[in-house]
Amino acid sequence: MSFEKTKWVWHNGRQLKWDEAQIHVSAYGLHYGTGVFEGIRAYKTTEGPAIFRLQEHLERMYASAKIYNLDIPYTSEEFTEVIKENLILNGLENCYIRPLAFSDSGSLGIRAICPTSVTVIAWEWANALDPEKKAAGLHVTVSPWRKFHSSMLPTTAKSSGQYLNSILAVREAASRGFDEALLLDVNGNLAEGAVENIFLVRDGKLLTNDEKSSILLGITRDSVIQIARNLGVEVEVRALTLDDLFSADEAFLTGTAVEIAPIRMVDEKKIGDGKTRPITGRIQKEFIDIINGRNLNYRHWLTPLHKSAKVGA
Ligand SMILES: Cc1ncc(COP(=O)(O)O)c(C=O)c1O
Repeated sequence: MSFEKTKWVWHNGRQLKWDEAQIHVSAYGLHYGTGVFEGIRAYKTTEGPAIFRLQEHLERMYASAKIYNLDIPYTSEEFTEVIKENLILNGLENCYIRPLAFSDSGSLGIRAICPTSVTVIAWEWANALDPEKKAAGLHVTVSPWRKFHSSMLPTTAKSSGQYLNSILAVREAASRGFDEALLLDVNGNLAEGAVENIFLVRDGKLLTNDEKSSILLGITRDSVIQIARNLGVEVEVRALTLDDLFSADEAFLTGTAVEIAPIRMVDEKKIGDGKTRPITGRIQKEFIDIINGRNLNYRHWLTPLHKSAKVGA
């Protein structure tokens, strides 16, 4: 992912020009990874741009901050307003939004409690994956790196330092030519993709795991579970084994960046016949309708940027 500089970045209460939004090299979070963040998307809908599940993302950010004792000096309502303002100032519609709260400069003693700085960067980002590759399905590998257990780091928190695990896995997978890495948990069960949750389809039923498998509880994951159930597809939440994966009829990854991305192959093994994915297709279609504001039943998942807009109307 690379981005062009946007005009405005929100930093500690002010919308600043991109080059003015700077931190000091002594920032505690830079040294120790103490930051919490979110990845959120806004989509262009028929009624103007709208942010997908903003409230749930902000709730997760505040929950992550609580776990790490980061005191975010703005309320969720204030964050909502500055995110909207930043998108409007930058003229963004289809974009990715990255709020971040981190321990700033104060001391580098490991016990220090430093002031929290907060930032929102947003940039245009239509596709995290090449659309052709996404349509054909991803070729993923089981990573030699395991997902850390939730007794080691709080896996339900989305924190900066925890991403070293994902980065090692994704870079190792890319070095062997794969599209993404799947990480096993310490017990050898499936955990998740480097930055996505995993779903399997078997005999018409959707299977996915939960926090007991040391995963981040994805907001796309939650959306897919609700969509599937509303479509009448049974969803079973339980630990998933490699046997489950290799005997699945369909498999897909979910995340804000990739949305719903089918898996075609895992290492040398095809998933299903490698081509047909009726259940994934149904859920993907519904999801696309929802994010584009075409499904009234889910309008509460969209926060319109402009007050007068009634997304999904
Ligand atoms: C480790 C990990 N798992 C799962 C996800 C998917 O979460 P979401 O659907 O909220 O983007 C992400 C992305 O944020 C992630 O980094």
